[in-house]
Amino acid sequence: MKGVILAGGLGTRLNPLTTITNKHLLPVYDKPMIYYPIQTLVNAGIEDIMIVCGGNNAGDFLRLLGNGSEFGLKHLNYTYQQGQGGIAEAVGLTRHFIGEERVLIMLGDNIIEHNIRKQTKEFQSQDSGAMILLKEVDNPREYGIAELDGDKIVNIVEKPQNPKTNYAVIGIYMYDQKVFDIIKTLEPSGRGELEITDVNNAYIEMGEMKYAFLDGYWADAGESIDSLLETNNFVKKFGANKME
Ligand code: G1P
Repeated sequence: MKGVILAGGLGTRLNPLTTITNKHLLPVYDKPMIYYPIQTLVNAGIEDIMIVCGGNNAGDFLRLLGNGSEFGLKHLNYTYQQGQGGIAEAVGLTRHFIGEERVLIMLGDNIIEHNIRKQTKEFQSQDSGAMILLKEVDNPREYGIAELDGDKIVNIVEKPQNPKTNYAVIGIYMYDQKVFDIIKTLEPSGRGELEITDVNNAYIEMGEMKYAFLDGYWADAGESIDSLLETNNFVKKFGANKME
């Protein structure tokens, strides 16, 4: 399975911190934010990784990360997303890299405490389809929110005004090859982006979406200044990307 980390976008919710600096290069305790998702993938056993850069300072990622030797990698792949076309558009840019394999996509501002090796193994043992990870949150209006019926996931609503649950879809998505055909059918949302929630709902409609709950801490560090601060404090106190 291959891995993709999304580090495009303009991060305007964090202005003026992101007026000059790409969101994913901001500090989370003692490392640039992008270090954390790379470590998550490496800990899960995924070593063939592409980073989707964007914005004005895409070259900074290459200077910072090189071929990923700090993470024990032999090589890192890069591509570039122009503008703010959304998460699903960014995934579409990686088709040539993924080839016939499956892919785990992780948002460059998501930070987790524990290892997701178990969930990735579970996904690899599925015949086909997709898998997402859920986490209970107390601010469901900020995320994609999943509606469950027993052990089935029936729908996801992006940033609902009136959330039916508080199960957030975190920024770690596992897909088979069909993801690229689904992306081709998408229309831009109200915010002018190709939404990953639309991709996930397409898998749900086909009856091919599985989910699992994530253990331990999860942060969307780029969601707001407060979440960035909270994530910094958590990582200083408790660490991130533990091996278990
Ligand atoms: C994105 C997704 C949302 C998901 C969140 C997790 O939101 O659209 O469904 O819950 O990431 O970090 P964004 O941060 O792009 O607003």
